[in-house]
Amino acid sequence: MAGIYITVLLLFGAMLTFQLEVHAEASNSHLKHNSKILQDSIVERINSNSTAGWRAEMNPRFSDYTVGQFKHLLGVKPTPKGVLESTPVVTHPKDLKLPNQFDARTAWPQCGTIGTILDQGHCGSCWAFGAVESLSDRFCIQFGMNISLSANDLLACCGFLCGDGCDGGYPIAAWRYFRYAGVVTEECDPYFDKTGCAHPGCEPEYPTPKCIRKCVKENLLWRKSKHFSTSAYRISSDPQNIMAEVYKNGPVEVSFTVYEDFAHYRSGVYKHTTGDEMGGHAVKLIGWGTSDDGEDYWLLANQWNRSWGDDGYFKIRRGTNECGIEADVVAGTPSSRNLNLVPEYNEADVSLDASI
Ligand SMILES: *[C@@H]1O[C@H](CO)[C@@H](O)[C@H](O)[C@H]1NC(C)=O
Ligand SMILES: *[C@@H]1O[C@H](CO)[C@@H](O)[C@H](O)[C@H]1NC(C)=O
Ligand SMILES: *[C@@H]1O[C@H](CO)[C@@H](O)[C@H](O)[C@H]1NC(C)=O
Repeated sequence: MAGIYITVLLLFGAMLTFQLEVHAEASNSHLKHNSKILQDSIVERINSNSTAGWRAEMNPRFSDYTVGQFKHLLGVKPTPKGVLESTPVVTHPKDLKLPNQFDARTAWPQCGTIGTILDQGHCGSCWAFGAVESLSDRFCIQFGMNISLSANDLLACCGFLCGDGCDGGYPIAAWRYFRYAGVVTEECDPYFDKTGCAHPGCEPEYPTPKCIRKCVKENLLWRKSKHFSTSAYRISSDPQNIMAEVYKNGPVEVSFTVYEDFAHYRSGVYKHTTGDEMGGHAVKLIGWGTSDDGEDYWLLANQWNRSWGDDGYFKIRRGTNECGIEADVVAGTPSSRNLNLVPEYNEADVSLDASI
């Protein structure tokens, strides 16, 4: 009898401690949610570690961001299984000769969009940015045209098929949208317009824009501003294969896991060293190389403006699937569909000037 009594008491005691622990953890994570993302202790820890391979800094971009606000920018949601399984996976011939170092900005110097750093503001739209940026570059590489495609079109008009707008989405779904619906130009549907939020976005968040299907400029037609892709594919995660894709077709969109220390990246070859997992992020991969220390890296353009990282760019360790950077690479090829319908405003302006 006494044995049972003691067992029950012990069980009850265990439950009580368990509940207390859960409670403590919940309030800890709440505290963390509202604390600043940038921490001197992380900067010190990285910069005093000679094997870290990269330098940390209190990046001005995030000086007033809480952990919660930072997490909101990391808008890659796990792709639904069905979508993933029905997406073709591209591989390239293994015997393709590839350079030891490659930078898409110098490989295609006529394409200014490759080296343009954008700013997603306070919206979890990285999944849309990585996609429109890479496709814009690919239009220039393939068709010699200078265009910036609209992240707003994706955010506002792709709907649930792409995820949840400023609350995150699926990178591959963006590329599918390019194929079936096309995407208008930034000129037609700008990210930060006068009716939306002023830059750097509404505080504390930029709400998902409404789908209006009208260009802000009256002389542009939504339908005629659409640019299409012919395909939407994943790239097999072998590093050689990713390199071949970038070398042949231009920048690609990649997703990876962001940890607290990444917010502090300043220069060098990043690898996760300290801090908790914050979420999934998408960016544009534009090249590769090997550092002076002999570390192989990928070169990427982020969309956190130029005051973050290495003038807006970063390098991450290549060949070890660091933070999952090689596991989730997506792209598509630009289509010539609709191109002859897009009026060439620059040329029209030039001929107008000439006739005056
Ligand atoms: C220093 O960096 C290396 C490589 O990222 C890591 O394995 C190690 O744990 C770090 N040391 C400290 C004290 O953080
Ligand atoms: C980058 O930030 C600056 C300063 O806040 C801002 O003026 C500029 O418009 C931003 N760049 C982009 C591409 O949004
Ligand atoms: C794109 O624009 C830049 C700067 O305006 C120019 O230098 C470049 O030649 C243009 N490229 C193409 C392919 O028209």
